[in-house]
Amino acid sequence: MIDPTLERYPFSMRALHWLVVLAVLVAYGVIYLEAFFPRGSVGRAYIWWTHISVGLALVALLMLRIPNRILARQPAPSAALSRPVRIAAAVAHGLLYLLLIATPLLGIWLAFLRGDAVTFFSLFTIPSPIGIDRTYAREIKEVHETMADALVVLAMLHAATALVHHFVLKDDVLRRMLPPSR
Ligand code: HEM
Ligand code: HEM
Repeated sequence: MIDPTLERYPFSMRALHWLVVLAVLVAYGVIYLEAFFPRGSVGRAYIWWTHISVGLALVALLMLRIPNRILARQPAPSAALSRPVRIAAAVAHGLLYLLLIATPLLGIWLAFLRGDAVTFFSLFTIPSPIGIDRTYAREIKEVHETMADALVVLAMLHAATALVHHFVLKDDVLRRMLPPSR
């Protein structure tokens, strides 16, 4: 719901945006630590425990973020943006949402196809409700990995655009998504 009197995104949208950024960075970044631990080690098990727990946290955050996006009052698009730029931003944001939803869902499916349970920080564990299919799991792993890479690349382009608006064009685009500064 557009509210032309609002200058920034409401607190709920800003908080959920940055919590989602944190979850994506941790889920993706933790995989790079794998190389430091030998195959079958406890360290590796912790890496996948963290990857899957944070991935599930991302699902929970999106279950809050999407209804919040639909219901919360939000500012009209920044006056600094021309119509074609607004359309490009809307397309990029739509793609980011699609990748944010699809990547963890494929991850859950992948774990289940391997017969693995998924755990949320060991607080609760969901056993696989489907049969094991390792061949299919390998294909889904490729898709999951490619989607995750696409998400991170698109998010980096998106972040770079926000930084150009802030530091080069010196408009309000980034400030609208940041916590208020006093
Ligand atoms: C609940 C959510 C998720 C689950 C259950 C999940 C599960 C998995 C599993 C089982 C693997 C295969 C690990 C292996 O090779 O043994 C994997 C790999 C991977 N996941 Fe996820 N994932 C989730 C969310 C995410 C998210 C949010 C991202 C990134 C934003 C991501 C990025 C990746 C990448 C890049 C790989 C490939 C790692 C490699 O083998 O090099 N995953 N995931
Ligand atoms: C994993 C990383 C990120 C993801 C997945 C992501 C995702 C999104 C999405 C989906 C939106 C649209 C919000 C909506 O209208 O509902 C958005 C808006 C925004 N994001 Fe990000 N973002 C990420 C990182 C960043 C970073 C690092 C920055 C800043 C450097 C940033 C700055 C912004 C700004 C300024 C907006 C508002 C754009 C506007 O008003 O048109 N984002 N982000």
